[in-house]
Amino acid sequence: MKIKAAVLRECKKPLTIEELELEPPKEKEVLVKYRYTGFCRSDLHHLLGELGASVPMVVGHESAGVVEEVGPGVTKIKKGDHVVGTWMIPCGECSECRRGRGNLCRGYHDQFLGGLLLDGTSRIKDKDGKMVRHGSYVAGFASYGVLPEAGTIPIRKDMPLEQACFMGCCVPTGWGTVTNIAKLQPGESVAIYGIGGVGLNVLRAAVLRQANPVIAVDIEGMREKIAREFGATHFIDSSKEDPVPKIQEIVGGGADVVFEAIGDPGATVQAYWSTGLAGKLVIPGVTPVDAATSLPLFRVPLHQLSILGGLYGAISTHLDIPKLADLAMTQDLKLDKLISKKFKLEDINDVAEAMIKRQINGRWVCELD
Ligand SMILES: NC(=O)c1ccc[n+]([C@@H]2O[C@H](COP(=O)([O-])OP(=O)(O)OC[C@H]3O[C@@H](n4cnc5c(N)ncnc54)[C@H](O)[C@@H]3O)[C@@H](O)[C@H]2O)c1
Ligand SMILES: [Zn+2]
Ligand SMILES: [Zn+2]
Repeated sequence: MKIKAAVLRECKKPLTIEELELEPPKEKEVLVKYRYTGFCRSDLHHLLGELGASVPMVVGHESAGVVEEVGPGVTKIKKGDHVVGTWMIPCGECSECRRGRGNLCRGYHDQFLGGLLLDGTSRIKDKDGKMVRHGSYVAGFASYGVLPEAGTIPIRKDMPLEQACFMGCCVPTGWGTVTNIAKLQPGESVAIYGIGGVGLNVLRAAVLRQANPVIAVDIEGMREKIAREFGATHFIDSSKEDPVPKIQEIVGGGADVVFEAIGDPGATVQAYWSTGLAGKLVIPGVTPVDAATSLPLFRVPLHQLSILGGLYGAISTHLDIPKLADLAMTQDLKLDKLISKKFKLEDINDVAEAMIKRQINGRWVCELD
């Protein structure tokens, strides 16, 4: 079938909107009509060549849609199901999966990095018959996608699909980083650097876990409104004042847990200095692969610091994503407020540019027809 998609042909060049050929789903695969895909900063990392993308590839990994057709052998998903695509598919058999760390699965590493489905091939071809890769399995900036059944997560139908797409990345990453990585306790003080899609979910999870105070830091002062709506007790515009002494003043020494949700080496240094004694620096932000920074290490033993990273919030995809959807429908995760704009596929290069210029409040979501 013909689909319309945003293709990354060359890093640092605009995406091309192309008509592509999508093959039908094979064994244990499903065809999904995508409805909404959020624009995550990890997509921008790919566009800018900061993570070493395999091209040509259809980008986008935060998608929700409706199952149109299932391939042979599919047992857990049926036509009409509302689903979320996940960019990490645990193989269930590698050493990480067996240790309960499916978010770090190595079994399908080559497929993931190569933009291929689980059998090591692609279902997408361009008009010249050449292979196009499935970015992060999901390849969500497209009208349709073929996904492995194991990477397709059914989601409750009463959840608006424009919010369900967030279940693919920023919600589990934000929530999982707070609960599984930081293991945040009620009453702990928190500072969050970077109030974008991931940072806002970190912030909301921290508020609902009764952290206090919850200090939001962003280099764009216009993030204050949304940070406060999500429950921040304080906001620091780091373009106007040094956040480190301000956080030390608010908390009295430094915060218990400081999150870096940007992927910026300079902000990581600021976040490091914002931790208090026995504090945790928690880093979901992804820096370019060749970025480095230097930190004075004496603080790690003498101040008993922990530096923790987190991939996909250390979630268990099939268990946690539906649970987070339930949470979103029963608690106030403010996902309606996370969407500040819906855009069309044709405008995707303007959205990438807006993210580079830090003009995006919350998440901008592509509406696919
Ligand atoms: N670890 C994971 O599994 C995982 C999953 C998803 C995203 N990520 C990463 O998380 C990071 C954040 O993603 P996002 O989609 O929320 O990005 P985003 O662009 O929506 O938000 C980033 C925010 O950081 C702010 N910012 C930029 N530079 C800053 C600085 N120097 N100081 C303070 N604030 C600054 C921006 O104004 C923006 O509000 C990215 O690196 C992304 O790749 C990681
Ligand atoms: Zn595995
Ligand atoms: Zn993402």
